[in-house]
Amino acid sequence: MEWNKLKTEFEQFLRDLYPEEPSLVQRAELYSLLAGGKRVRPHLLMATLSGYGTDVKKGFYASAALEMIHTYSLIHDDLPAMDNDVLRRGKPTCHIEFDEATAILAGDGLLTRAFETVSRTDSNHIAELVQELAKAAGDEGMILGQTDDLALEHAEHPSVEDLRNVHHNKTGQLLQVPLVMGAIIAEHPEDISMLRNFGFLLGLAFQIQDDILDVVSSQQELGKSQSDAQNGKSTYVTVLGLDKATEYMNTTYREAKECLKGTSMDITELERILDSLLIRRS
Ligand code: IPE
Ligand code: IPE
Ligand code: MG
Ligand code: MG
Ligand code: MG
Repeated sequence: MEWNKLKTEFEQFLRDLYPEEPSLVQRAELYSLLAGGKRVRPHLLMATLSGYGTDVKKGFYASAALEMIHTYSLIHDDLPAMDNDVLRRGKPTCHIEFDEATAILAGDGLLTRAFETVSRTDSNHIAELVQELAKAAGDEGMILGQTDDLALEHAEHPSVEDLRNVHHNKTGQLLQVPLVMGAIIAEHPEDISMLRNFGFLLGLAFQIQDDILDVVSSQQELGKSQSDAQNGKSTYVTVLGLDKATEYMNTTYREAKECLKGTSMDITELERILDSLLIRRS
């Protein structure tokens, strides 16, 4: 699977889902959607399809839906009422480029469009795909995590368990669900529970690393504001310290890799993703 080539094709696919002459809210959606994210969630979904020998393009609509929801979560995460950030994906955040009302509505637009988009998937299991996506993004998934993340701001003694729950919900669930959706589209339900375990560990490691990069990376490399300390966020770095957090991240990525060995699929591309995530600087 040639990810770089596929990613370029996917970017064009995303653009083509919108009218040629977008309205104001659609321009705000496209501004954030096409600003150059890493597309980790689409990559995970397509790597799962390729691992089962299924045409990866069967995953384009579901991947687009994932990026729409992820991008909406970032637009809202950056709002003054949440993390209050001004830089995202190397550009001014949506509410800075447009205004707060437009940014809120662009998030709403992306979220709503995501469900129309996933329903276009060529699969006999649309209802399952929609349910999995809604659960991962909703008030028992990402939205719950974001709520708890705010509640933990300035918390006195958050435990590692508290943090793990927040990380799993706010970030892990949307990294776990592409794997599950991939297995559903490829019609390999037997691997779903193993892929959930893998996705849980991957998601946790990914967000621990996000917390670490907030401290050790540069704004230039990250392309986003580094506001955790300023916002009094509880992170793995504040709770465990940088060295222990880094050790924990490495162990968790390693455990994730181990987990993959239990599946019936070709894990080459998923392993490649893990390897590239381990050394990411943004
Ligand atoms: C950033 O996600 C927010 C988190 C969930 C940690 P990504 O690191 O995947 O951001 P993009 O999509 O590449 O911008
Ligand atoms: C946000 O976590 C996860 C989301 C659901 C958007 P962060 O607040 O740490 O993400 P960044 O660092 O702003 O990308
Ligand atoms: Mg946040
Ligand atoms: Mg943030
Ligand atoms: Mg962060």
